[in-house]
Amino acid sequence: MKHAHHFSFLLLFVFLFINISLGFAQEDEKNDDWWKSTTVYQIYPRSWYDTNEDGIGDLEGVIEKLDYLQEMGYETIWISPFTESPQRDFGYDVSNYYKISPQYGTMELFERLLDEVHSRKMKLVFDLVMNHTSNEHEWFKESSSSRDNPKADWYIWRDGRGKHGTKRPNNWRAMSGNRAWTYHPERKQFYYTGFLPFQPDLNYHQPDVKNAMFDVARFWLDKGVDGFRLDIISAIYEDSTLRRNPMSIHMVPSDKSLTIFFQHLKHNFLQEESFEFSTELRNVIDEYDHPKRVLIGESHGREDLIHRFCYDKGKNGLNAVFLFNAVSMPFKAKKYRKMTENFERYFAEPLVPTLVFANHDRTRTITRLGGNVNKAKLLAMFQFTSRGIPFTYFGEEIGIPRVRIPLKEGKDAIAIQNRKTPQFLVNMSIETLNRDECRTPMLWNSSANAGFSAANAQPWLPVAENFKEINVEKQMNDKNSQLNLFKNVIHLRSQTPALHKGKLEIADEYCSKKVFAYYRIFEGKKYLVVLNMSKSVLKNSFPKGQILLSTNNNYKADFLQGYEGRIILCE
Ligand code: GLC
Repeated sequence: MKHAHHFSFLLLFVFLFINISLGFAQEDEKNDDWWKSTTVYQIYPRSWYDTNEDGIGDLEGVIEKLDYLQEMGYETIWISPFTESPQRDFGYDVSNYYKISPQYGTMELFERLLDEVHSRKMKLVFDLVMNHTSNEHEWFKESSSSRDNPKADWYIWRDGRGKHGTKRPNNWRAMSGNRAWTYHPERKQFYYTGFLPFQPDLNYHQPDVKNAMFDVARFWLDKGVDGFRLDIISAIYEDSTLRRNPMSIHMVPSDKSLTIFFQHLKHNFLQEESFEFSTELRNVIDEYDHPKRVLIGESHGREDLIHRFCYDKGKNGLNAVFLFNAVSMPFKAKKYRKMTENFERYFAEPLVPTLVFANHDRTRTITRLGGNVNKAKLLAMFQFTSRGIPFTYFGEEIGIPRVRIPLKEGKDAIAIQNRKTPQFLVNMSIETLNRDECRTPMLWNSSANAGFSAANAQPWLPVAENFKEINVEKQMNDKNSQLNLFKNVIHLRSQTPALHKGKLEIADEYCSKKVFAYYRIFEGKKYLVVLNMSKSVLKNSFPKGQILLSTNNNYKADFLQGYEGRIILCE
Protein backbone atom coordinates (compact mmCIF):
# COMPACT_ATOMS: atom_id res chain seq x y z
CA MET A 1 0.00 0.00 0.00
CA LYS A 2 2.79 2.29 1.01
CA HIS A 3 4.59 1.44 -2.23
CA ALA A 4 1.50 2.11 -4.28
CA HIS A 5 1.22 5.48 -2.64
CA HIS A 6 4.79 6.32 -3.59
CA PHE A 7 4.17 5.06 -7.06
CA SER A 8 1.19 7.32 -7.64
CA PHE A 9 3.21 10.24 -6.33
CA LEU A 10 5.92 9.39 -8.79
CA LEU A 11 3.37 9.16 -11.59
CA LEU A 12 1.94 12.51 -10.64
CA PHE A 13 5.40 14.00 -10.58
CA VAL A 14 6.30 12.55 -13.99
CA PHE A 15 2.97 13.74 -15.35
CA LEU A 16 3.52 17.25 -14.05
CA PHE A 17 7.10 17.29 -15.27
CA ILE A 18 6.11 16.23 -18.77
CA ASN A 19 3.35 18.78 -18.85
CA ILE A 20 5.50 21.61 -17.61
CA SER A 21 8.28 20.85 -20.03
CA LEU A 22 5.83 20.39 -22.88
CA GLY A 23 4.30 23.70 -21.91
CA PHE A 24 7.69 25.32 -22.10
CA ALA A 25 8.46 23.61 -25.35
CA GLN A 26 5.24 24.95 -26.82
CA GLU A 27 5.94 28.38 -25.45
CA ASP A 28 9.44 28.21 -26.84
CA GLU A 29 8.24 27.04 -30.18
CA LYS A 30 6.06 30.11 -30.33
CA ASN A 31 8.87 32.38 -29.25
CA ASP A 32 11.64 30.79 -31.17
CA ASP A 33 12.47 32.13 -34.57
CA TRP A 34 8.98 33.57 -35.04
CA TRP A 35 10.38 35.85 -37.76
CA LYS A 36 11.12 32.91 -40.02
CA SER A 37 7.47 32.12 -40.50
CA THR A 38 6.05 35.62 -40.27
CA THR A 39 4.76 37.97 -42.97
CA VAL A 40 5.75 41.62 -42.77
CA TYR A 41 3.82 44.69 -43.87
CA GLN A 42 5.76 47.94 -44.23
CA ILE A 43 3.91 51.06 -43.22
CA TYR A 44 5.20 54.40 -44.44
CA PRO A 45 3.43 56.39 -41.70
CA ARG A 46 3.24 59.68 -43.60
CA SER A 47 1.11 58.06 -46.26
CA TRP A 48 -0.90 55.45 -44.40
CA TYR A 49 -3.87 57.07 -42.66
CA ASP A 50 -4.37 60.66 -41.54
CA THR A 51 -6.68 61.04 -38.54
CA ASN A 52 -6.13 64.73 -37.75
CA GLU A 53 -6.71 66.31 -41.15
CA ASP A 54 -3.20 67.70 -41.60
CA GLY A 55 -2.63 65.72 -44.80
CA ILE A 56 0.00 63.53 -43.13
CA GLY A 57 -0.58 60.06 -41.73
CA ASP A 58 -0.08 59.48 -38.01
CA LEU A 59 0.29 56.81 -35.31
CA GLU A 60 -3.40 57.06 -34.41
CA GLY A 61 -3.99 56.12 -38.05
CA VAL A 62 -1.76 53.09 -37.67
CA ILE A 63 -3.83 51.97 -34.68
CA GLU A 64 -7.09 52.48 -36.55
CA LYS A 65 -5.97 50.35 -39.47
CA LEU A 66 -4.54 47.43 -37.51
CA ASP A 67 -7.74 45.45 -37.95
CA TYR A 68 -7.33 45.70 -41.69
CA LEU A 69 -3.83 44.24 -41.52
CA GLN A 70 -4.95 41.52 -39.19
CA GLU A 71 -7.80 40.62 -41.49
CA MET A 72 -5.32 40.41 -44.37
CA GLY A 73 -3.32 37.96 -42.26
CA TYR A 74 -0.14 39.96 -41.74
CA GLU A 75 1.62 39.05 -38.52
CA THR A 76 4.29 41.76 -38.31
CA ILE A 77 4.35 45.44 -39.10
CA TRP A 78 7.47 47.44 -39.79
CA ILE A 79 6.93 51.19 -39.53
CA SER A 80 9.30 53.61 -41.26
CA PRO A 81 10.85 56.13 -38.80
CA PHE A 82 8.54 58.28 -36.67
CA THR A 83 11.06 59.67 -34.18
CA GLU A 84 11.92 63.36 -34.02
CA SER A 85 13.37 64.63 -37.27
CA PRO A 86 13.49 67.78 -39.39
CA GLN A 87 11.88 65.52 -42.03
CA ARG A 88 14.29 66.39 -44.80
CA ASP A 89 14.48 62.65 -45.49
CA PHE A 90 11.10 62.04 -43.87
CA GLY A 91 12.39 60.51 -40.67
CA TYR A 92 15.56 58.86 -41.96
CA ASP A 93 17.29 61.96 -40.58
CA VAL A 94 16.82 61.56 -36.84
CA SER A 95 17.35 64.52 -34.54
CA ASN A 96 16.28 62.72 -31.35
CA TYR A 97 16.09 58.95 -30.99
CA TYR A 98 14.09 59.17 -27.77
CA LYS A 99 11.20 61.34 -28.91
CA ILE A 100 8.27 60.86 -31.25
CA SER A 101 7.95 63.41 -34.05
CA PRO A 102 4.94 65.57 -33.02
CA GLN A 103 3.24 65.24 -36.41
CA TYR A 104 2.92 61.50 -35.79
CA GLY A 105 1.87 61.63 -32.15
CA THR A 106 3.31 61.16 -28.67
CA MET A 107 5.19 58.47 -26.76
CA GLU A 108 1.98 57.59 -24.98
CA LEU A 109 0.30 57.00 -28.28
CA PHE A 110 3.19 54.85 -29.45
CA GLU A 111 2.88 52.73 -26.30
CA ARG A 112 -0.81 52.31 -26.98
CA LEU A 113 -0.03 51.28 -30.53
CA LEU A 114 2.43 48.67 -29.30
CA ASP A 115 -0.20 47.30 -26.89
CA GLU A 116 -2.77 47.17 -29.66
CA VAL A 117 -0.31 45.31 -31.90
CA HIS A 118 0.57 42.80 -29.20
CA SER A 119 -3.01 42.26 -28.15
CA ARG A 120 -3.64 41.09 -31.70
CA LYS A 121 -0.68 38.65 -31.38
CA MET A 122 1.16 40.70 -33.95
CA LYS A 123 4.73 42.05 -33.85
CA LEU A 124 6.14 45.50 -34.39
CA VAL A 125 9.52 46.14 -35.99
CA PHE A 126 11.13 49.52 -35.41
CA ASP A 127 13.14 51.20 -38.18
CA LEU A 128 16.48 52.07 -36.59
CA VAL A 129 18.76 54.52 -38.38
CA MET A 130 22.16 53.83 -36.83
CA ASN A 131 24.48 54.85 -39.60
CA HIS A 132 23.85 58.57 -39.43
CA THR A 133 21.86 61.25 -37.65
CA SER A 134 20.37 64.48 -38.88
CA ASN A 135 22.78 67.41 -38.89
CA GLU A 136 20.29 68.91 -36.43
CA HIS A 137 20.94 66.22 -33.83
CA GLU A 138 22.52 67.57 -30.62
CA TRP A 139 25.44 65.18 -31.05
CA PHE A 140 26.32 66.71 -34.39
CA LYS A 141 25.83 70.24 -33.16
CA GLU A 142 28.31 69.55 -30.40
CA SER A 143 30.72 67.61 -32.58
CA SER A 144 30.83 70.32 -35.23
CA SER A 145 31.27 73.17 -32.76
CA SER A 146 35.03 72.70 -32.29
CA ARG A 147 37.81 70.20 -32.76
CA ASP A 148 38.20 69.50 -29.06
CA ASN A 149 34.70 69.12 -27.63
CA PRO A 150 33.83 65.82 -25.89
CA LYS A 151 32.05 64.55 -29.01
CA ALA A 152 34.67 65.85 -31.46
CA ASP A 153 35.24 62.38 -32.95
CA TRP A 154 31.64 61.12 -32.86
CA TYR A 155 31.35 61.84 -36.59
CA ILE A 156 33.90 61.34 -39.35
CA TRP A 157 35.94 64.50 -39.66
CA ARG A 158 38.97 65.01 -41.86
CA ASP A 159 41.14 67.90 -42.97
CA GLY A 160 40.86 68.91 -46.56
CA ARG A 161 43.68 68.31 -48.98
CA GLY A 162 45.64 70.88 -50.95
CA LYS A 163 47.52 73.96 -49.86
CA HIS A 164 44.47 75.63 -48.39
CA GLY A 165 42.78 72.47 -47.21
CA THR A 166 39.84 73.12 -49.50
CA LYS A 167 40.04 69.90 -51.51
CA ARG A 168 37.93 66.96 -50.33
CA PRO A 169 39.81 64.34 -48.29
CA ASN A 170 39.37 61.71 -51.04
CA ASN A 171 37.30 60.73 -54.08
CA TRP A 172 34.46 58.92 -52.30
CA ARG A 173 30.92 59.31 -53.42
CA ALA A 174 27.83 58.68 -51.32
CA MET A 175 25.25 56.03 -52.22
CA SER A 176 22.92 58.84 -53.27
CA GLY A 177 25.41 59.96 -55.94
CA ASN A 178 26.66 63.18 -54.37
CA ARG A 179 30.23 63.63 -53.11
CA ALA A 180 30.66 62.05 -49.70
CA TRP A 181 32.39 65.01 -48.04
CA THR A 182 30.88 68.30 -46.94
CA TYR A 183 32.89 71.25 -45.69
CA HIS A 184 31.92 72.63 -42.29
CA PRO A 185 33.07 76.23 -41.84
CA GLU A 186 32.98 76.20 -38.03
CA ARG A 187 35.35 73.25 -37.70
CA LYS A 188 37.16 74.10 -40.92
CA GLN A 189 37.04 70.42 -41.76
CA PHE A 190 35.06 68.05 -43.92
CA TYR A 191 32.55 65.56 -42.55
CA TYR A 192 31.60 62.32 -44.26
CA THR A 193 28.13 61.23 -45.37
CA GLY A 194 27.26 57.86 -46.87
CA PHE A 195 23.93 59.27 -48.00
CA LEU A 196 22.84 62.91 -48.24
CA PRO A 197 24.88 65.90 -46.93
CA PHE A 198 22.43 66.60 -44.10
CA GLN A 199 22.88 63.04 -42.78
CA PRO A 200 26.38 62.96 -41.22
CA ASP A 201 27.72 59.45 -40.60
CA LEU A 202 28.49 58.45 -37.04
CA ASN A 203 32.00 57.22 -36.32
CA TYR A 204 31.68 53.62 -35.15
CA HIS A 205 35.41 53.37 -34.59
CA GLN A 206 34.70 55.46 -31.49
CA PRO A 207 33.40 53.08 -28.77
CA ASP A 208 31.24 55.74 -27.10
CA VAL A 209 29.21 56.08 -30.28
CA LYS A 210 28.59 52.37 -30.40
CA ASN A 211 27.53 52.34 -26.76
CA ALA A 212 25.25 55.35 -27.21
CA MET A 213 23.54 53.67 -30.14
CA PHE A 214 23.25 50.33 -28.36
CA ASP A 215 21.53 52.24 -25.56
CA VAL A 216 19.08 53.65 -28.10
CA ALA A 217 18.38 50.07 -29.18
CA ARG A 218 17.86 49.00 -25.56
CA PHE A 219 15.48 51.90 -24.95
CA TRP A 220 13.16 50.67 -27.70
CA LEU A 221 13.58 47.03 -26.75
CA ASP A 222 12.62 47.95 -23.19
CA LYS A 223 9.51 49.60 -24.57
CA GLY A 224 8.73 46.24 -26.12
CA VAL A 225 9.42 46.53 -29.83
CA ASP A 226 9.99 43.13 -31.45
CA GLY A 227 13.11 44.05 -33.34
CA PHE A 228 14.71 46.40 -35.79
CA ARG A 229 14.95 47.03 -39.47
CA LEU A 230 18.45 48.48 -39.74
CA ASP A 231 18.72 51.31 -42.20
CA ILE A 232 21.71 51.13 -44.59
CA ILE A 233 23.68 48.81 -42.37
CA SER A 234 26.06 48.31 -45.32
CA ALA A 235 27.32 51.85 -44.68
CA ILE A 236 28.06 51.49 -40.98
CA TYR A 237 31.87 51.41 -41.42
CA GLU A 238 34.27 52.94 -43.85
CA ASP A 239 37.97 52.48 -44.34
CA SER A 240 39.68 54.68 -41.74
CA THR A 241 42.75 55.13 -43.94
CA LEU A 242 40.48 56.60 -46.64
CA ARG A 243 41.74 54.50 -49.54
CA ARG A 244 40.63 55.84 -52.92
CA ASN A 245 37.64 54.14 -54.49
CA PRO A 246 38.35 52.45 -57.83
CA MET A 247 36.56 53.18 -61.09
CA SER A 248 33.70 51.07 -62.31
CA ILE A 249 32.22 50.65 -65.76
CA HIS A 250 28.72 51.24 -64.41
CA MET A 251 27.16 54.62 -64.08
CA VAL A 252 24.07 53.85 -62.06
CA PRO A 253 23.76 51.62 -59.00
CA SER A 254 22.30 48.17 -59.38
CA ASP A 255 20.89 45.72 -56.90
CA LYS A 256 23.98 43.57 -57.29
CA SER A 257 26.74 46.05 -56.70
CA LEU A 258 27.35 49.36 -55.03
CA THR A 259 28.43 51.58 -57.87
CA ILE A 260 27.58 55.15 -58.67
CA PHE A 261 28.77 57.53 -61.38
CA PHE A 262 31.47 55.10 -62.52
CA GLN A 263 32.79 54.62 -59.01
CA HIS A 264 32.80 51.37 -57.09
CA LEU A 265 32.06 52.21 -53.44
CA LYS A 266 34.63 49.70 -52.35
CA HIS A 267 36.10 51.41 -49.32
CA ASN A 268 33.09 53.18 -47.84
CA PHE A 269 30.50 50.39 -47.96
CA LEU A 270 30.38 46.74 -46.90
CA GLN A 271 33.60 46.80 -44.90
CA GLU A 272 34.76 43.75 -42.96
CA GLU A 273 33.95 45.46 -39.66
CA SER A 274 30.27 45.63 -40.60
CA PHE A 275 29.95 41.88 -40.22
CA GLU A 276 31.61 41.94 -36.84
CA PHE A 277 29.35 44.82 -35.82
CA SER A 278 26.32 42.67 -36.63
CA THR A 279 27.48 40.02 -34.19
CA GLU A 280 27.99 42.66 -31.48
CA LEU A 281 24.52 44.00 -32.08
CA ARG A 282 23.23 40.44 -31.87
CA ASN A 283 24.63 40.26 -28.34
CA VAL A 284 22.63 43.34 -27.36
CA ILE A 285 19.46 41.86 -28.81
CA ASP A 286 20.08 38.56 -27.09
CA GLU A 287 19.84 40.32 -23.73
CA TYR A 288 16.12 40.21 -24.54
CA ASP A 289 14.88 36.70 -24.66
CA HIS A 290 11.18 36.69 -23.92
CA PRO A 291 10.08 37.18 -26.57
CA LYS A 292 13.05 36.99 -28.88
CA ARG A 293 13.73 40.04 -31.02
CA VAL A 294 14.71 40.26 -34.66
CA LEU A 295 17.33 42.17 -36.68
CA ILE A 296 16.77 42.74 -40.39
CA GLY A 297 19.46 44.66 -42.22
CA GLU A 298 19.26 46.84 -45.28
CA SER A 299 22.19 46.17 -47.55
CA HIS A 300 22.71 46.03 -51.27
CA GLY A 301 25.20 43.64 -52.73
CA ARG A 302 25.53 40.07 -53.84
CA GLU A 303 24.13 37.25 -51.75
CA ASP A 304 27.50 35.51 -51.56
CA LEU A 305 28.81 38.48 -49.61
CA ILE A 306 25.89 39.86 -47.66
CA HIS A 307 24.94 36.52 -46.12
CA ARG A 308 27.90 37.28 -43.84
CA PHE A 309 25.74 39.84 -42.02
CA CYS A 310 23.79 36.87 -40.67
CA TYR A 311 26.57 34.47 -39.86
CA ASP A 312 30.25 35.22 -39.89
CA LYS A 313 33.31 33.51 -38.51
CA GLY A 314 31.27 31.12 -36.41
CA LYS A 315 29.09 33.84 -34.89
CA ASN A 316 25.45 34.76 -35.35
CA GLY A 317 24.68 38.27 -36.54
CA LEU A 318 21.49 39.68 -38.05
CA ASN A 319 18.54 37.36 -38.52
CA ALA A 320 18.00 38.44 -42.10
CA VAL A 321 19.06 40.92 -44.77
CA PHE A 322 17.02 42.32 -47.59
CA LEU A 323 17.80 40.55 -50.85
CA PHE A 324 17.19 43.37 -53.27
CA ASN A 325 18.18 41.41 -56.37
CA ALA A 326 14.58 40.29 -56.49
CA VAL A 327 13.34 43.85 -57.00
CA SER A 328 14.77 44.25 -60.49
CA MET A 329 14.73 40.58 -61.46
CA PRO A 330 13.27 40.13 -64.96
CA PHE A 331 9.92 38.36 -64.89
CA LYS A 332 11.26 35.09 -66.33
CA ALA A 333 10.91 31.55 -65.01
CA LYS A 334 14.59 30.73 -65.44
CA LYS A 335 15.69 33.88 -63.66
CA TYR A 336 13.38 33.18 -60.74
CA ARG A 337 14.65 29.65 -60.54
CA LYS A 338 18.25 30.82 -60.44
CA MET A 339 17.44 33.48 -57.88
CA THR A 340 15.71 30.96 -55.64
CA GLU A 341 18.61 28.54 -55.96
CA ASN A 342 20.94 31.33 -54.93
CA PHE A 343 18.80 32.23 -51.93
CA GLU A 344 18.74 28.58 -50.89
CA ARG A 345 22.47 28.31 -51.30
CA TYR A 346 23.49 31.33 -49.27
CA PHE A 347 20.58 31.41 -46.84
CA ALA A 348 20.06 27.72 -46.18
CA GLU A 349 18.62 26.72 -42.79
CA PRO A 350 19.14 27.92 -40.10
CA LEU A 351 19.32 31.18 -42.09
CA VAL A 352 16.34 32.52 -43.95
CA PRO A 353 16.10 34.59 -47.15
CA THR A 354 13.89 37.65 -47.49
CA LEU A 355 11.38 38.14 -50.30
CA VAL A 356 11.06 41.77 -51.18
CA PHE A 357 9.85 43.48 -54.35
CA ALA A 358 9.21 47.06 -53.33
CA ASN A 359 9.74 49.63 -50.62
CA HIS A 360 9.60 53.38 -50.07
CA ASP A 361 12.68 53.91 -52.27
CA ARG A 362 11.73 51.89 -55.33
CA THR A 363 9.27 51.93 -58.18
CA ARG A 364 5.87 50.42 -57.46
CA THR A 365 5.64 46.76 -58.48
CA ILE A 366 2.53 47.05 -60.62
CA THR A 367 4.25 49.75 -62.68
CA ARG A 368 7.34 47.59 -63.04
CA LEU A 369 5.08 44.81 -64.29
CA GLY A 370 3.56 47.07 -66.94
CA GLY A 371 0.24 47.25 -65.09
CA ASN A 372 -0.38 43.52 -65.47
CA VAL A 373 -2.48 42.40 -62.48
CA ASN A 374 -2.08 38.70 -63.35
CA LYS A 375 1.67 39.05 -63.12
CA ALA A 376 1.30 40.85 -59.78
CA LYS A 377 -0.84 38.00 -58.46
CA LEU A 378 1.72 35.46 -59.63
CA LEU A 379 4.49 37.36 -57.92
CA ALA A 380 2.48 37.39 -54.70
CA MET A 381 1.99 33.65 -54.93
CA PHE A 382 5.74 33.23 -55.27
CA GLN A 383 6.43 35.66 -52.44
CA PHE A 384 4.16 33.94 -49.94
CA THR A 385 5.01 30.35 -50.82
CA SER A 386 8.74 30.43 -51.41
CA ARG A 387 11.02 29.92 -48.40
CA GLY A 388 11.74 33.28 -46.81
CA ILE A 389 10.27 36.27 -45.03
CA PRO A 390 7.83 38.10 -47.33
CA PHE A 391 7.64 41.90 -47.09
CA THR A 392 4.71 43.85 -48.51
CA TYR A 393 5.22 47.56 -48.98
CA PHE A 394 1.95 49.33 -48.18
CA GLY A 395 -0.47 49.46 -51.09
CA GLU A 396 1.22 46.67 -53.04
CA GLU A 397 -1.69 44.39 -52.18
CA ILE A 398 -4.07 46.60 -54.15
CA GLY A 399 -1.57 47.61 -56.82
CA ILE A 400 -1.06 51.32 -56.21
CA PRO A 401 0.82 52.50 -59.29
CA ARG A 402 3.76 54.85 -59.53
CA VAL A 403 2.26 58.33 -59.53
CA ARG A 404 4.19 60.57 -61.88
CA ILE A 405 5.46 63.67 -60.08
CA PRO A 406 7.94 65.85 -61.96
CA LEU A 407 11.39 66.13 -60.38
CA LYS A 408 10.94 69.86 -59.99
CA GLU A 409 7.92 69.32 -57.75
CA GLY A 410 9.61 66.60 -55.72
CA LYS A 411 9.59 66.80 -51.93
CA ASP A 412 12.00 63.90 -51.68
CA ALA A 413 15.57 64.99 -50.94
CA ILE A 414 16.92 62.82 -53.78
CA ALA A 415 14.56 64.59 -56.20
CA ILE A 416 15.63 67.96 -54.82
CA GLN A 417 19.29 67.05 -55.26
CA ASN A 418 18.69 65.95 -58.85
CA ARG A 419 16.14 68.59 -59.85
CA LYS A 420 18.29 69.78 -62.77
CA THR A 421 18.29 66.36 -64.44
CA PRO A 422 16.20 66.62 -67.63
CA GLN A 423 12.79 65.12 -67.02
CA PHE A 424 12.87 63.09 -70.27
CA LEU A 425 15.89 61.18 -68.92
CA VAL A 426 14.06 60.47 -65.71
CA ASN A 427 11.04 59.23 -67.64
CA MET A 428 13.18 56.76 -69.57
CA SER A 429 14.07 54.78 -66.48
CA ILE A 430 11.85 52.39 -64.60
CA GLU A 431 13.76 53.28 -61.44
CA THR A 432 12.66 56.47 -59.82
CA LEU A 433 14.76 59.52 -58.97
CA ASN A 434 11.83 61.08 -57.22
CA ARG A 435 10.83 58.75 -54.43
CA ASP A 436 7.62 60.71 -53.86
CA GLU A 437 6.30 58.67 -56.78
CA CYS A 438 6.16 55.50 -54.69
CA ARG A 439 5.11 57.21 -51.46
CA THR A 440 1.71 58.58 -52.44
CA PRO A 441 -1.14 57.94 -49.97
CA MET A 442 -2.86 54.64 -49.35
CA LEU A 443 -6.10 54.22 -51.27
CA TRP A 444 -8.77 53.17 -48.80
CA ASN A 445 -12.01 53.85 -50.65
CA SER A 446 -13.51 55.92 -53.44
CA SER A 447 -14.42 58.96 -51.33
CA ALA A 448 -12.48 62.24 -51.50
CA ASN A 449 -8.72 61.84 -50.98
CA ALA A 450 -9.29 58.09 -51.31
CA GLY A 451 -10.22 58.01 -47.62
CA PHE A 452 -6.61 58.71 -46.64
CA SER A 453 -7.39 62.20 -45.32
CA ALA A 454 -10.60 64.09 -44.64
CA ALA A 455 -12.21 65.68 -47.70
CA ASN A 456 -11.21 69.18 -46.61
CA ALA A 457 -7.56 68.23 -46.02
CA GLN A 458 -4.71 68.49 -48.50
CA PRO A 459 -2.72 65.22 -48.64
CA TRP A 460 1.04 65.83 -48.56
CA LEU A 461 1.41 64.04 -51.89
CA PRO A 462 -1.19 63.61 -54.61
CA VAL A 463 -3.49 60.62 -54.44
CA ALA A 464 -3.24 58.21 -57.41
CA GLU A 465 -5.76 59.26 -60.04
CA ASN A 466 -7.28 55.82 -60.49
CA PHE A 467 -8.27 55.53 -56.82
CA LYS A 468 -11.95 55.02 -57.69
CA GLU A 469 -11.04 51.77 -59.46
CA ILE A 470 -8.20 50.75 -57.17
CA ASN A 471 -8.89 50.89 -53.46
CA VAL A 472 -9.17 48.60 -50.45
CA GLU A 473 -12.94 48.78 -50.06
CA LYS A 474 -13.62 47.92 -53.67
CA GLN A 475 -11.12 45.09 -53.79
CA MET A 476 -12.37 43.59 -50.52
CA ASN A 477 -15.72 43.11 -52.22
CA ASP A 478 -14.34 41.58 -55.39
CA LYS A 479 -13.33 37.96 -55.02
CA ASN A 480 -11.11 38.16 -58.09
CA SER A 481 -9.14 41.16 -56.87
CA GLN A 482 -5.44 41.37 -56.26
CA LEU A 483 -6.16 42.09 -52.60
CA ASN A 484 -8.13 38.89 -52.20
CA LEU A 485 -5.39 36.86 -53.80
CA PHE A 486 -2.95 38.34 -51.30
CA LYS A 487 -5.34 37.61 -48.47
CA ASN A 488 -5.98 34.03 -49.56
CA VAL A 489 -2.37 33.14 -50.10
CA ILE A 490 -1.30 34.74 -46.81
CA HIS A 491 -3.94 32.80 -44.87
CA LEU A 492 -3.08 29.57 -46.66
CA ARG A 493 0.57 30.14 -45.83
CA SER A 494 -0.05 30.69 -42.15
CA GLN A 495 -2.35 27.67 -41.85
CA THR A 496 0.04 25.37 -43.70
CA PRO A 497 3.28 24.49 -41.88
CA ALA A 498 4.99 23.37 -45.10
CA LEU A 499 4.42 26.79 -46.64
CA HIS A 500 5.88 28.75 -43.75
CA LYS A 501 8.50 26.43 -42.40
CA GLY A 502 8.92 23.57 -44.83
CA LYS A 503 11.94 22.65 -46.84
CA LEU A 504 12.06 24.02 -50.39
CA GLU A 505 13.00 21.79 -53.30
CA ILE A 506 13.06 22.90 -56.90
CA ALA A 507 10.62 20.75 -58.91
CA ASP A 508 13.07 20.23 -61.71
CA GLU A 509 10.72 17.99 -63.69
CA TYR A 510 8.18 20.82 -64.12
CA CYS A 511 10.56 23.73 -64.63
CA SER A 512 11.03 25.11 -68.12
CA LYS A 513 11.58 28.37 -69.93
CA LYS A 514 7.99 29.24 -69.07
CA VAL A 515 7.37 27.55 -65.77
CA PHE A 516 9.02 27.80 -62.41
CA ALA A 517 7.94 25.14 -59.94
CA TYR A 518 9.01 24.06 -56.47
CA TYR A 519 7.92 21.88 -53.60
CA ARG A 520 7.46 22.83 -49.98
CA ILE A 521 7.76 19.83 -47.73
CA PHE A 522 7.08 19.36 -44.04
CA GLU A 523 6.43 16.23 -41.96
CA GLY A 524 5.47 14.05 -44.86
CA LYS A 525 3.26 16.62 -46.55
CA LYS A 526 4.29 17.90 -49.93
CA TYR A 527 2.96 20.91 -51.78
CA LEU A 528 3.78 21.81 -55.36
CA VAL A 529 3.78 25.45 -56.40
CA VAL A 530 3.67 25.93 -60.18
CA LEU A 531 4.08 29.37 -61.65
CA ASN A 532 3.43 29.89 -65.33
CA MET A 533 5.52 32.98 -65.94
CA SER A 534 4.55 33.18 -69.60
CA LYS A 535 1.40 34.30 -71.34
CA SER A 536 0.93 30.92 -73.04
CA VAL A 537 -1.78 28.51 -72.03
CA LEU A 538 -0.04 25.29 -71.03
CA LYS A 539 -1.33 21.74 -70.89
CA ASN A 540 -1.41 20.46 -67.36
CA SER A 541 1.10 17.69 -66.82
CA PHE A 542 1.26 18.09 -63.07
CA PRO A 543 0.75 15.34 -60.54
CA LYS A 544 -2.69 14.58 -59.23
CA GLY A 545 -3.66 16.41 -56.13
CA GLN A 546 -6.00 18.92 -54.68
CA ILE A 547 -5.64 22.44 -56.08
CA LEU A 548 -5.59 24.55 -52.93
CA LEU A 549 -5.32 27.92 -54.61
CA SER A 550 -4.96 29.37 -58.07
CA THR A 551 -4.21 32.96 -58.99
CA ASN A 552 -7.03 32.57 -61.48
CA ASN A 553 -10.40 31.89 -59.88
CA ASN A 554 -11.72 30.42 -63.13
CA TYR A 555 -8.93 27.91 -63.49
CA LYS A 556 -9.34 24.75 -65.53
CA ALA A 557 -7.83 21.62 -64.07
CA ASP A 558 -6.43 20.49 -67.43
CA PHE A 559 -4.78 23.74 -68.41
CA LEU A 560 -2.63 26.35 -66.85
CA GLN A 561 -3.71 29.79 -68.04
CA GLY A 562 -1.18 32.45 -68.99
CA TYR A 563 0.44 33.86 -65.83
CA GLU A 564 -1.45 31.43 -63.68
CA GLY A 565 0.04 30.09 -60.49
CA ARG A 566 -1.26 27.18 -58.42
CA ILE A 567 -0.63 25.47 -55.17
CA ILE A 568 -1.27 21.73 -55.24
CA LEU A 569 -1.32 19.35 -52.29
CA CYS A 570 0.49 16.31 -53.68
CA GLU A 571 -1.14 12.92 -53.17
C1 GLC B 1 17.71 53.86 -46.70
C2 GLC B 1 16.25 54.23 -46.66
C3 GLC B 1 16.05 55.50 -47.43
C4 GLC B 1 16.84 56.59 -46.77
C5 GLC B 1 18.31 56.20 -46.67
C6 GLC B 1 19.06 57.11 -45.75
O1 GLC B 1 18.13 53.50 -47.95
O2 GLC B 1 15.49 53.16 -47.14
O3 GLC B 1 14.71 55.86 -47.53
O4 GLC B 1 16.71 57.77 -47.49
O5 GLC B 1 18.48 54.90 -46.16
O6 GLC B 1 18.68 56.93 -44.43
